[in-house]
Amino acid sequence: MLDRTHTIPKNRFEDWHLEKVSSLLKNFDNEEHNLIDVLHFFQRTFGYIDKEVIPLLAKFFNLSRAEIHGVISFYHDFRQSKPASYILKICQAESCQAMGSRKLTTELKAALDIDFHETNNEADITLEPVYCLGNCSCSPNLTINSQLFSRVTSDHLKQILEELKNAQHD
Ligand code: FES
Repeated sequence: MLDRTHTIPKNRFEDWHLEKVSSLLKNFDNEEHNLIDVLHFFQRTFGYIDKEVIPLLAKFFNLSRAEIHGVISFYHDFRQSKPASYILKICQAESCQAMGSRKLTTELKAALDIDFHETNNEADITLEPVYCLGNCSCSPNLTINSQLFSRVTSDHLKQILEELKNAQHD
């Protein structure tokens, strides 16, 4: 067994509170070019961008609500709902695809019965694509939270999912 999933800490995001978001926003300059940084900061803090922040950001940056919504929905990296304790990202870029990540992705989606950007609540896993993890020589790669798994095979994938399932009961 890989037995490495036990070392993966669960995500510990703060609960979303608009008052807290509003107070954190005061730490930023309201120049429009800071919008992406602010969104990344909120996602790192809360795990996602709740749509209730849109009017607040529109006022802060002097942009329309549609413009803020457009930025959040254009970049797929921005989640619009709270992720699971484990965020599994599988590489879809060229080197990993050449080494079988498409097949692994199909197997993952089937095993979890979800598509990208969805969560399997029972497994407590959110599935996301990623485009190159900078570890192409050891393709195919995936990450679970901050843990990297390389040269992943179908058998490894089954073990990883099994160990994550067992970790729920530890
Ligand atoms: S293509 Fe997957 S790590 Fe670079």
